[in-house]
Amino acid sequence: MTVFVRAETPDDIEAIYRLNTAAFDGRTEEADLVDALRSSGDLLLSLVAVRDAEPVGHIAFSRLIVDAADGPVGGVALAPVSVHPGCQSEGVGSVLIRAGLEKLAARSEQVVLVVGNPTYYSRFGFSTAAGKRYPSSHSGPHFMALVIGDPAGAPIGPVRYPEAFELVN
Ligand SMILES: CC(C)(COP(=O)(O)OP(=O)(O)OC[C@H]1O[C@@H](n2cnc3c(N)ncnc32)[C@H](O)[C@@H]1OP(=O)(O)O)[C@@H](O)C(=O)NCCC(=O)NCCS
Repeated sequence: MTVFVRAETPDDIEAIYRLNTAAFDGRTEEADLVDALRSSGDLLLSLVAVRDAEPVGHIAFSRLIVDAADGPVGGVALAPVSVHPGCQSEGVGSVLIRAGLEKLAARSEQVVLVVGNPTYYSRFGFSTAAGKRYPSSHSGPHFMALVIGDPAGAPIGPVRYPEAFELVN
């Protein structure tokens, strides 16, 4: 299936809300999280995957803080990623994750954190072992990190998520 990935526009906002709600079986926490991140200015990158002019997938990246030894440094949270139930397991999620990570690398972002299924996210380089270097309110067996670029230069330390994440705690 061919999809085109692009940054969200204001015209996508309602479709993104519906898409996130549908992907999470009618639950609105993730859709509300995206809206809250957008409102608070913490949404770093929001991409939609479009097929036949319709958004069929969405991914959000937001700014979090790593309290590194030398002081606070910006990191990135990946959440949520959603693919319309009728289009899942066709590669859309993978395309969105890879496109997002490429854009973050181009912006010299260094560390991305995600909570999810380790079998799925390990495909993109995330690991639970790396996640252990970033203690946070989301730490646990599904908490993973990916260091982009030189691991020696990446900040390490406890992580503070944007306040909007209290919606999904
Ligand atoms: C998770 C999700 C984004 C993946 O996107 P996708 O387009 O369906 O997945 P892809 O086509 O890129 O990858 C498909 C593979 O991922 C696996 N997969 C899909 N969802 C998975 C999940 N929640 N956990 C583990 N593996 C999953 C499939 O089994 C498939 O494996 P295969 O390649 O070995 O056959 C999508 O299924 C979705 O929106 N799910 C509901 C919302 C959700 O759980 N989001 C993630 C949490 S933030």
